[in-house]
Amino acid sequence: MGMKHTWGILGAGGIAAKFLGDLKLLPNARLHAVGSRSAERAAAFAAAHGIPKAYGSYEALAADPGIDIVYIATPHAGHYPHSLLCLDHGKAVLCEKPVAINRRQFERMVARAKEKKRFFMEALWTRFVPSFIKCKHLVESGAIGEVRLIESDFCFNAPVNPDGRLYNPRIGGGALLDIGLYPVFCALEFGGEIVDVKATAAFGRNGVDTACSMLLGHANGELSVLFCSMTTEGRVESVIHGSRGMVRLNRKWHTPTSIDLMPDHAPPQHFTFDEPGRGYQYEAVEAMKCLDEGKLESALWSWERSRQLITLLDQIREIAGITYPPEVEAV
Ligand SMILES: NC(=O)c1ccc[n+]([C@@H]2O[C@H](COP(=O)([O-])OP(=O)(O)OC[C@H]3O[C@@H](n4cnc5c(N)ncnc54)[C@H](OP(=O)(O)O)[C@@H]3O)[C@@H](O)[C@H]2O)c1
Repeated sequence: MGMKHTWGILGAGGIAAKFLGDLKLLPNARLHAVGSRSAERAAAFAAAHGIPKAYGSYEALAADPGIDIVYIATPHAGHYPHSLLCLDHGKAVLCEKPVAINRRQFERMVARAKEKKRFFMEALWTRFVPSFIKCKHLVESGAIGEVRLIESDFCFNAPVNPDGRLYNPRIGGGALLDIGLYPVFCALEFGGEIVDVKATAAFGRNGVDTACSMLLGHANGELSVLFCSMTTEGRVESVIHGSRGMVRLNRKWHTPTSIDLMPDHAPPQHFTFDEPGRGYQYEAVEAMKCLDEGKLESALWSWERSRQLITLLDQIREIAGITYPPEVEAV
């Protein structure tokens, strides 16, 4: 076990509560404070989750000298300003996905992390969960031969709530950045360099994209078939097809799940993983390991990988016509 690290939580919302539940599983993590735009919400959240300190502004949280690392858990449009705020106060940052609204914002964030010499990582938790890591090992060890086709979806039927995060373009709502990011991530992880991008989106009443389908061509000829929707349920599976078999990350593939390996000429194998928690602890473990080792970025989910992901998301948005108000895109 590494050194103890003191965490601050920025934004007292849904994912913050889930994340800190898993953080409590880690003996080297100390949950110290929460910051909210409202002192009342901060106090209520702190009381509900046993957090010692509550701040009624994000600035006050960032200024607490007792915090080593801040988890940014605000809606998408908050990731850029809130990460900069914390880096400027000398904090390490684990920032929810997508890392930013666009690549320009991301480059500023990385530049600031370098300038301040502080750890910075996009909280792409799937990269660190045991089932996903096992699937990577299977594919990389040649269990399905050469990768030929990647199929991945993320669909769920979200209740229509024009004021909620998902449907509000002013805070970066929409299916692609919220959930479509995962299938795109899957294509990046299992396919080679991406040389061709096609995409089309469906839009809701207030202009946010409610679904997006994407076709990617990779340099070695493999193809990715990806889609997301927040107006219908879906399989939420990822299947990697190879020249000698297939491997499937089963339903809710982006979370800790099971895997089915289906070689063409050998019996199938089913892998299960029995671990406590929801799976958010693994990204926190990685962040603290990097802090222990004095690293500014993770080798598993590096700045370059986040850059590739946000660059692709920018490209898909351009092709599919997914836009945000200028203040959301601003750097
Ligand atoms: N990794 C995952 O599995 C996962 C799952 C869900 C969401 N996420 C990501 O986590 C982030 C937050 O999602 P969430 O579901 O937790 O969202 P949420 O509950 O709607 O909002 C999170 C918090 O952000 C703060 N906030 C700051 N500015 C806001 C604004 N203008 N409007 C609304 N809230 C604002 C609010 O906290 P205060 O009022 O206390 O300041 C709010 O409670 C998103 O980027 C999302 O993509 C990740």
